[in-house]
Amino acid sequence: MREAWRAGLSGWAMVRVGKTWEIYRPVGLGRTGDHLLMVSTDRLAVFDRVVPSLILDKGEITTQISLWWLKQLSGLVTTHLASMDVPEAVAGRAIMARALRMIPFQCQVMGYMNQGAMWEYREAGTVGGQALPGGLHPSERLPEPLFIPARKGRPGTPDVPVSERTFADAVGEGTAAALRDSSLRLYRRAHEIAASHGLVLADTKFEFGVNEEVGDIELGDEVMTPDSSHFWLASEYRPGTSQRSFDKELVGNWLMEQPEWDAGSFTQPPPLPASVVALTRERYVTVYHMLTGCPWQPRRAR
Ligand SMILES: Nc1ncnc2c1ncn2[C@@H]1O[C@H](COP(=O)(O)OP(=O)(O)O)[C@@H](O)[C@H]1O
Ligand SMILES: [Mg+2]
Repeated sequence: MREAWRAGLSGWAMVRVGKTWEIYRPVGLGRTGDHLLMVSTDRLAVFDRVVPSLILDKGEITTQISLWWLKQLSGLVTTHLASMDVPEAVAGRAIMARALRMIPFQCQVMGYMNQGAMWEYREAGTVGGQALPGGLHPSERLPEPLFIPARKGRPGTPDVPVSERTFADAVGEGTAAALRDSSLRLYRRAHEIAASHGLVLADTKFEFGVNEEVGDIELGDEVMTPDSSHFWLASEYRPGTSQRSFDKELVGNWLMEQPEWDAGSFTQPPPLPASVVALTRERYVTVYHMLTGCPWQPRRAR
């Protein structure tokens, strides 16, 4: 699944291939101010596996959503965004970011019971290991948003929720408190903004890292995209049932219906049918459109 834009990055050395992102540095220029070219690909990962089908324009859509959020939230947090001065081949889907020493935890914030949370809650009365009051229904808004730190797994393994105690022991009390506070502040504000655009931001996750030049913690990674969040339509929202989710939901649902593939088997998922690819793309486009108010137009069509 080589994407065409790779050919336009001949002057760049690949530093890391993630499930959906690729990170590059300029070749031969040494440490150019420690800036990284972060490229969002059209790959999609569910159950910690990359599916062998590309979602056309997904990298560009998610990058544009992420940038839109950074603009909305600029007063609330310092981010890794350095510039948009990127090679033409990846324009729209890439950013220049300060290289951070990433804190190896996802900072998840959950505002509503999603499907995954409901399974754990029904079994154990907890979500991310945290006790919740009884009687909560699917998709119900939680009394308060929950902060759930999750240790990032090795490639191919899931992130594992940990207690706030374990989190604080791993990253230090001060850092743990700062990340909790920032995550909840960002989520609350973003939830309000999403609501004013007709969307329910049910949950999301952030990654932070240390800018070693100045010693500060900055928000890294992608921000409140359909890859890192669950979005529902406010107009359809009915607590008590599951919601249509404007993210990777259709891919996950389709894979679970495939008898020959088992999420726990560590094997490659099968390619997606064209209809699942097209409908998933439509859901990402809808989130872009509802948030920004602009119709989606990929750079390749301009
Ligand atoms: N500013 C940054 N500096 C260094 N690494 C970053 C920065 N922002 C995000 N990252 C890292 O880039 C990677 C993006 O890859 P991704 O495809 O999301 O893989 P995964 O989430 O499976 O690790 C993540 O490991 C993330 O921690
Ligand atoms: Mg990631």
